[in-house]
Amino acid sequence: DGTGAPAEPRPAAGLPGAAAGRRAPAPLGLVAELTHRCPLQCHYCANPVELTRQRDELDTEQWLRVLDQARGLGVLQVHLTGGEPLLRRDLTTIVAHARELGLYTNLITSGLPLDGARAAELAEAGLDHVQLSVQDADPVNADAIAGLTRLNGPTGHERKLAAAALLTAAGLPLTVNAVLHRGNVERLGAIADLAVDLGAERVELAHTQFYGWAWVNRAHLAPSDEQVHRAERDVAAARARHGDRIEITHVVADLHSGTAKPCMNGWGNEQLVVAPDGAVLPCLAAAQLPGMPVPNAVTDGLAASWHDSPAFNRYRGTDWMPEPCRSCDLREQDFGGCRCQAFQFTGDAGATDPACRLSPHHHLVHAPAPAPGPAPLPRRFTAPVPPAPGPA
Ligand code: SF4
Ligand code: FES
Repeated sequence: DGTGAPAEPRPAAGLPGAAAGRRAPAPLGLVAELTHRCPLQCHYCANPVELTRQRDELDTEQWLRVLDQARGLGVLQVHLTGGEPLLRRDLTTIVAHARELGLYTNLITSGLPLDGARAAELAEAGLDHVQLSVQDADPVNADAIAGLTRLNGPTGHERKLAAAALLTAAGLPLTVNAVLHRGNVERLGAIADLAVDLGAERVELAHTQFYGWAWVNRAHLAPSDEQVHRAERDVAAARARHGDRIEITHVVADLHSGTAKPCMNGWGNEQLVVAPDGAVLPCLAAAQLPGMPVPNAVTDGLAASWHDSPAFNRYRGTDWMPEPCRSCDLREQDFGGCRCQAFQFTGDAGATDPACRLSPHHHLVHAPAPAPGPAPLPRRFTAPVPPAPGPA
């Protein structure tokens, strides 16, 4: 049925972008998007605007076979994400199986559906690490960003704080994640302080990556240059304030830096994504790229997807690169940037990432984004009409 042991892969020579006769190295990480269901509706969500419905999700056995295949392919780490993975009732089974295979397991969660019994069960199953999202240090604003209405009882933000306490009580190492944008970046320092109070070992302060819903809402989310510069100063101040009590990671705003980010550490180089319906993708946003047949973990298998599929080979290595990347000294460090960002701005996924100041399309990142409406669109299962890619 295609879900068993990975098929023996064939050589990749002759496929577009593949270096002739050279096989891709084993992937290090699997990003397992267990579900797109989520109790939150964050405006900055990087999930695709066409979300996968529950009826199309892989079932438990299929996810366990995905993990078997990943281990067989050489994967060492699995990142369980969504949507909200805690909405899968089989999450503990999936974690336990990953640990039996010797995989490092990382859960990326909003924390809202967590209770003490679930936290203990996940720790018992061998979960290695949890990344808990917070939307802001200000509770009212945090719930507004998450699209939550503040009714009677604990707010979404308060439930996240409670989840952090449950996770640390269960002995699980905790990273607090916050996505930064125009509406919260000025409280970056307070978010770092909150992470310390929550007992996190690490806080990741990441400027919004503009894919999916975040791309649709870019006009409402994009920070100003002044906010981005101030964020750098605030991160330095937070590091000085907290010393080595917490590791503070700052994911910079590539669209403001003039440099391209090494997206996924190279296309088909280190990681692969399996979407809720089993689609195997080189990154979280690749499903939007036109003319790219997407392999499936159930019907095609992970090994064939990784080694042989046109999707994974199209932008692998450096042979596909146009100028100025082709002759640039940085091409093996940033891999020409992000294919999805190149597509979103120019309509051509094979273009140099416009975030790079050397790109002939760099001016597009400074053009005002078209706004879909007066307010950001909350993430939901009824997809809006996404803005057309390419220059207006
Ligand atoms: Fe990176 Fe290409 Fe820009 Fe060089 S030209 S810095 S390889 S994106
Ligand atoms: Fe797809 Fe960067 S998100 S290549």
